[in-house]
Amino acid sequence: MLREEHKSLKNYNTFGIDIKAKCFSSVQSIEELKTILSSHKNEPLFILGGGSNMLLTKDIDEHVLHINLKGVHVVFENNDEVIVEAHAGENWHDFVIYCLHHDFGGVENLSLIPGNVGTAPIQNIGAYGVELKDVFDSCEAVEIDTLETKRFGLDECKFGYRDSIFKNEAKGRYIITSVRFRLTKNKHLLRTSYGSIQDELEAQGIIQPTIKDISDAVIAIRKSKLPDPKVLGNSGSFFKNPVVTLDTFNAFRLKYPEAPYYEVSAMQYKIPAGWLIEKSGWKGRRIGDAGVHEKQALVLVNYGNATGSELWKLALNIQKDVKDKFGIYIEPEVNVF
Ligand code: EPU
Repeated sequence: MLREEHKSLKNYNTFGIDIKAKCFSSVQSIEELKTILSSHKNEPLFILGGGSNMLLTKDIDEHVLHINLKGVHVVFENNDEVIVEAHAGENWHDFVIYCLHHDFGGVENLSLIPGNVGTAPIQNIGAYGVELKDVFDSCEAVEIDTLETKRFGLDECKFGYRDSIFKNEAKGRYIITSVRFRLTKNKHLLRTSYGSIQDELEAQGIIQPTIKDISDAVIAIRKSKLPDPKVLGNSGSFFKNPVVTLDTFNAFRLKYPEAPYYEVSAMQYKIPAGWLIEKSGWKGRRIGDAGVHEKQALVLVNYGNATGSELWKLALNIQKDVKDKFGIYIEPEVNVF
């Protein structure tokens, strides 16, 4: 296991922020992970996965532990379904490709999401009508204090919209080492109801789509509006879509009848933060190298040399303007350090 000092994390976060870790280790096995946890009992740790959901605003004094556990295998299968286990350091989209290659259905709508398998449950990644929880079987995690291994089932994870136990009561206590997915082998449950998927399939003249067709459609949609982090640093949606009460929603709708929305329940409505940000005049704006993406206002981008603090300042200004104009608070989806 390599331990490095004063290492730049530019290539380890999808915003491409050039900050330094005082101390950095990359672990490739659970044994290495446990060794480092036991030998650094009193040293504060900073757990790093794919770096796709974080904004780094300052150098990191904690010991950065890069979770680089690899491997994907089938744990159980019968004629209809399969349980596949992927280790935490596997790239998420590579895992989706593996599933498509084996004709395992369930994750195709989640194609091209940046990040790693191990961090996917933390924020219950979701896109185009599917969330990780829909295909989740369980995950294994090591408790940092005790080094004990624990398996978390679906209910224990308390998944919500971009939320789980790992963002709440279990925050900072566990390192997820692998995730098991429950996938279909045939009779795939195709989820094409999300408007733009249907439009994309129709445009291609596909009437009976395969899971590969759905993945291709999702990839085409994402590429058309979301910037590729390898080309333009970003962290996907910077903010969550706010969920408001029925009263707030009714008042909002009266004033802005044209605004898009989703009904979450009879008492709760979700309003797209991208729409609120665009109507606040921020879409496509740029301050130095920190900007708001021109095709999707929910995504903040690093045009080259933006610092984390500049991006965070931009985010706070956007948040304030949305609050002033609409009276609605938009909460960051990314973790800010
Ligand atoms: N909209 C605007 N202006 C914009 C962006 C969006 O008016 O600049 C409007 C769109 O016209 C549409 C609505 O807002 O009516 C929703 O837009 P879209 O379908 O693009 O989805 P989103 O709500 O912006 C969410 C997820 C994405 C996910 C897509 C598709 C969150 C925070 N974001 O975005 O997830 O890919 O739905 O399912 O829930 C991510 O989490 O990083 C991410 C990219």
